[in-house]
Amino acid sequence: LEETIPSLCGVYRDYFNIGAAVNKYTIESNKHLLEKHFNSLTAENEMKFENLQREEGVFTFEETDRMISFAEANGMKVRGHTLVWHNQTPDWVFAHPDGKLVNRDMLLNRMEAHILAVVGRYKGKIESWDVVNEAISDDATEYLRKSKWLEIVGEDFIAKAFEKAHLVDPDASLFYNDYNESSPEKREKIYRLVKSLKEKDVPIHGIGLQAHWNIAEPKIDDIRAAIERYASLGLQIQVTEMDVSVFEWNDKRKNVTEPTASMLELQEKRYEQFFNLFREYRQVITSVTFWGISDAYTWLNDFPVKGRRNWPFVFDEAGKPKGAYWNITRF
Ligand code: XIL
Repeated sequence: LEETIPSLCGVYRDYFNIGAAVNKYTIESNKHLLEKHFNSLTAENEMKFENLQREEGVFTFEETDRMISFAEANGMKVRGHTLVWHNQTPDWVFAHPDGKLVNRDMLLNRMEAHILAVVGRYKGKIESWDVVNEAISDDATEYLRKSKWLEIVGEDFIAKAFEKAHLVDPDASLFYNDYNESSPEKREKIYRLVKSLKEKDVPIHGIGLQAHWNIAEPKIDDIRAAIERYASLGLQIQVTEMDVSVFEWNDKRKNVTEPTASMLELQEKRYEQFFNLFREYRQVITSVTFWGISDAYTWLNDFPVKGRRNWPFVFDEAGKPKGAYWNITRF
């Protein structure tokens, strides 16, 4: 049966790339789904700072090399995720050898050395980089997120990261990536940040919408407003980490072991609406990546409720198409 269904990226060939986030396990266990349905690849964790440069100057590129070879062998694009983030960055980055906090110049040197090594190694092989991830605050009273990057370097850590990445690989598309990207307050802050970067001629080419959504939120109109607002900056948009949780955000039940029929119906409907919207904006949306492949594995099994299963994708645990798959391929 699986052999006879249409390829997702085939169906979307004239619209945008269809990507999947993989890790070293799922790239093996879902090999066939990946080869058939996806033409873009993101590493779920393997390309984060802590995995590439555990200790200063000690790089481990093996997993990433393998993923990039897989992508090349299958004619897939690669999205690089991510260079500068407050999470999954080792403590040594912010520490001074004498035990105090590192100073601005030293931290900028480390950031630029990391970007030089990583972007340089994969120059020409990575179509788009999430250069800076999640730098905007979710707090209404605050603009940028409190982080070591901000605290030690100041606001221009963002511009400096983009400038360095562009210097090292001038052909890569450089993205600012964030979540809650369609909530009215946060989208204005993202807009403000990217606008200010553009005004300073910082090399930035796109905005990544993570799209960690669920069966109720966010509303389609808010997503549309975000796309319109971001597109008005003249940049491309990529959906970078899509999943559609079967739980509403405030539903913190732990003991649900199977999705109910009504959860799945809502999810199907939502997927249909999301992809209808994406197709409307095919001129600006260049890629849509799921934060996984099939319901056999999702990071949502541990987030936000530890140990609770979730079923956020269009392929089920056995890799078979769900109703959501049919809703986004029949149009
Ligand atoms: C997540 C991974 O999926 C998990 O395996 C890891 O434990 C934590 O990070 N926003 C991002 C992604 O930009 O890098 C995150 O990925 C999910 C939220």
